[in-house]
Amino acid sequence: MLHVLDHPLGAHILTRLRDRATPPAAFRILAYQVSLLLALEATRDLTTRDQVVETPLEKIVGRVLAKPLAVVPILRAGLGMVQPFTELFPDVSVGYVGLERDHVTAVARSYYQKLPPLAGKRVIVVDPMLATGGSAVQALDVLRAEGATELFLVCIVSAPEGVRAVEAAHPSVPIFTAALDRELNAKKYILPGLGDFGDRLYGT
Ligand code: PRP
Ligand code: URA
Repeated sequence: MLHVLDHPLGAHILTRLRDRATPPAAFRILAYQVSLLLALEATRDLTTRDQVVETPLEKIVGRVLAKPLAVVPILRAGLGMVQPFTELFPDVSVGYVGLERDHVTAVARSYYQKLPPLAGKRVIVVDPMLATGGSAVQALDVLRAEGATELFLVCIVSAPEGVRAVEAAHPSVPIFTAALDRELNAKKYILPGLGDFGDRLYGT
């Protein structure tokens, strides 16, 4: 269920995101750009239905999207990935799950939740960093409990540990990531990674 983005532009953007010299203003644009590529990948198999339209010359049977979408960023860093989804899919519903990792234990604590109705929708969780997988698993647990049946996870950088944790807890959830990195360090940061995504996104 793991899909690693394979696109030269994705590799280019990722290298610039990883560069410690990239300032927040550029970092935000790069996060938007790679999230756009990932949004297209994670919706490649969306169902469509036929719709008849008339071109200026003749009638044709076209296709339109048939299934509603919801995107759920894990606050705070996930916010940096939402815009491509709302631009590409104007009818998308947006929910929020607020989770913050403890600096010592790396265990995520829930502090906020606001969700639209989820039944019958493809629900795409966005979080740039999949490290231990604790945050993603918690968010997926919440969404499942709230009625989501078709869940996807979209990340920018993933660690093997995080992928394994999500696969163990939610084996049916496809994971889309721009990079699968080597490992976690002792503080549960991804190596080589790109540092603290939220801090780099918002300049904290
Ligand atoms: C980061 C990141 C993920 C989480 C990943 O968020 O955005 O949500 O850590 O780590 P995990 O896989 O080990 O759970 P953080 O908790 O630092 O909060 P922030 O987005 O507010 O910076
Ligand atoms: N969260 C981040 O922002 N970066 C990591 O490497 C791990 C968790």
